[in-house]
Amino acid sequence: MPDQVLITGASRGIGRAAAERFRKEGWRVINVSRSPCTVPDVVNVRVDLAEPGWEPAVEEALRDGASQGRLCVVHNAALYERDDALTMDADHLRRVLEVNVVAPLVLNRLARPLLTDGSSLLYVSSTLGEKAVKGVASYVTTKHALIGMMRATCQDLAGTRVHTACVCPGFTDTEMLREHMGADPAVRASVAGMTTFGRLITPEEIAGVLYTCATTPVLNGAVIHANLGQVER
Ligand SMILES: NC(=O)c1ccc[n+]([C@@H]2O[C@H](COP(=O)([O-])OP(=O)(O)OC[C@H]3O[C@@H](n4cnc5c(N)ncnc54)[C@H](OP(=O)(O)O)[C@@H]3O)[C@@H](O)[C@H]2O)c1
Repeated sequence: MPDQVLITGASRGIGRAAAERFRKEGWRVINVSRSPCTVPDVVNVRVDLAEPGWEPAVEEALRDGASQGRLCVVHNAALYERDDALTMDADHLRRVLEVNVVAPLVLNRLARPLLTDGSSLLYVSSTLGEKAVKGVASYVTTKHALIGMMRATCQDLAGTRVHTACVCPGFTDTEMLREHMGADPAVRASVAGMTTFGRLITPEEIAGVLYTCATTPVLNGAVIHANLGQVER
């Protein structure tokens, strides 16, 4: 029976690149997002993780592919909103928490009965999981939370032969980053200049790190900095 991966937010960006990579390696891939993943042979569960009631559709897709193979869950979907720690509205924070933090917890519970030996629960945090910049308080807060959740997951999985890790990407060339950089080529060049290689990371590079995590149990509990080396100013 084939291995199976469930990726949230594989309709574009890092999640889509991960879907492509796992498919190439022969895994059954389930995408969970509002719009579909266009990678061939991916099973799409089209739900909004910010709205209650999405669990049955995801459970059904997981059950349809249930096998004795490994299951990997990649908690990748995220909201990246401009906001401020001092003025943020509570309902706004609740919505971001719902997608970035609550959905991973719920998915772990749904996946639990299918976690055979060698399975994994992978989190996608950010360089902003361990530091902050101005104006993105809910994102910074939730990305820090994911690192804590991964560490708790590691402890609570002890003895199960299931592993977990948290990948913290740096500036990766996706729609999320492009939306925040805007269209000005000078801004893009300046952001690229913030990595020691002077370029943006490709989604495929992060997908490769995720695939390595899924297939490498010794990384259990690891926080992986995948950022090409950030230039500190
Ligand atoms: N790009 C970077 O520079 C960077 C850096 C550090 C960390 N990261 C992290 O990497 C991960 C992927 O980021 P990305 O750059 O690939 O982002 P992206 O291009 O914006 O993709 C985000 C994905 O999340 C899904 N999503 C968003 N809201 C959702 C919702 N309410 N329900 C279901 N799915 C939802 C989107 O799908 P739909 O719109 O179809 O629902 C989309 O597939 C995120 O966790 C992000 O924080 C990215």
